[in-house]
Amino acid sequence: MAREAHRAPRGTRDLLPEDLILIRHLERTAHRVARSARYSEIRPPLIEETRLFARSLGETSDVVEKEMFTVPGRGGSDSSYTLRPEGTAGAARAYVQGGFPIRAPFQKWYYLGPMFRYERPQKGRERQFTQFGVEAFGSRDPRLDAEVVDLAVRFFEALGFGSELQVRVNTMGDEEDRGRWREALRAFFAPTLGERCDDCRARFERNVFRLLDCKVAGCRERNQGAPELLGLLGSDSAAHHRAFLSALRALGREPIEDPGIVRGLDYYTRTIFEIHYPPLGSRSALCGGGRYDGLIEEVGGPPTPAVGFAIGFSATELALGELGLPPAADLADLRAELGAEVYCVAITDQEREETLALAGELRRAGLTGVELDFRGKSAKAQFKEAGRLGARFALVLGPEERAEGVVVLRDMAERREERIPRAEAAAALAARLGR
Ligand code: HAM
Repeated sequence: MAREAHRAPRGTRDLLPEDLILIRHLERTAHRVARSARYSEIRPPLIEETRLFARSLGETSDVVEKEMFTVPGRGGSDSSYTLRPEGTAGAARAYVQGGFPIRAPFQKWYYLGPMFRYERPQKGRERQFTQFGVEAFGSRDPRLDAEVVDLAVRFFEALGFGSELQVRVNTMGDEEDRGRWREALRAFFAPTLGERCDDCRARFERNVFRLLDCKVAGCRERNQGAPELLGLLGSDSAAHHRAFLSALRALGREPIEDPGIVRGLDYYTRTIFEIHYPPLGSRSALCGGGRYDGLIEEVGGPPTPAVGFAIGFSATELALGELGLPPAADLADLRAELGAEVYCVAITDQEREETLALAGELRRAGLTGVELDFRGKSAKAQFKEAGRLGARFALVLGPEERAEGVVVLRDMAERREERIPRAEAAAALAARLGR
């Protein structure tokens, strides 16, 4: 009887060789775009102490309340660990732990890798997903906010996106602005609190801003006409916002000002933004980010301003699929890597060990995509396989060639053959392939 077949956990997927053609293209585009503005890669651990996320993202954020993959501590003083649901908290922790606030406070970093959130899986939302994020520490300059937005947009442009994308921007103000806003919101929500959902009632006391992004339809209706922060901004925050918008325009970006953006994580101050592909509907955000001038202090460092974004690959892949992007030519080199460049053909079984040795020599000489047969195929079938894999050359060994110490080099496209000394095969091929 067949055993039970196992499946990948809900909300996760296998990235198999074919899937990785697109993913690797996204990754190399991310590396290129980040490096264009001198951001350097970091790789913090995938797990952090749970309390880091509770502190940074906020106890009342959906992510901390409901979506963390947490491994309890194993007794004693061992704390609990959580698979990172996002990259900003870990980057901020690494910045402080690495001593950067003192020795080199201005840092531009980026990261690329898996994040984990225990969400209900749906279109574009997974429990394990990839983010490309950047974080710039040590400057309050609103031009840096604009540079960060511009980088995110350039990532999408490099993938072939055009005017389909919307850059939506807003401001969260600073601590004082938010104090005024908090009071105004409380006064506005208090009279209808009894008609709202349980989550909203609980959050009214702890974090009234969260009522603004409640997903329950009835609660959303009751948010109509809620006071907006824009009118309550102090002069510094208002000036920052104006300078940010002006810097964005200087970069040729026309943002949509959208007071409806409220990011789900608590660390934001002043600039916030999202990049949307509207046809994806309510889950259309491909990217989210903003300034977080209080976070470094929150995780134990000195007051240090910072700004960043994270782009989710899942939604990006969906949007690319709908747009028929990227053009096949952009993926041609990665697709070719799945094929072979050189195929070593054994005419009879007597040459099979020799073709293995030959393949080893070619690989040592720096050739890539060197393949041979391991399944007992006839010589004819080996040629066919070489063609199927897109090999440019076949190196053929038969009893005669062996006796004479030569190999036959066949150019697969031109069907031209020449005999070359066995000892020179690797160098001859490397030269022909420009290695
Ligand atoms: P976020 O808005 O929570 O921000 O996530 C950024 C992007 O990650 C989203 O726009 C979405 O594309 C993607 N994403 C989030 N959750 C999922 C999921 N379950 N499945 C698939 N994709 C998802 C942050 O994470 C902040 N750390 C961004 C940031 C960096 N702010 C400042 N620096």
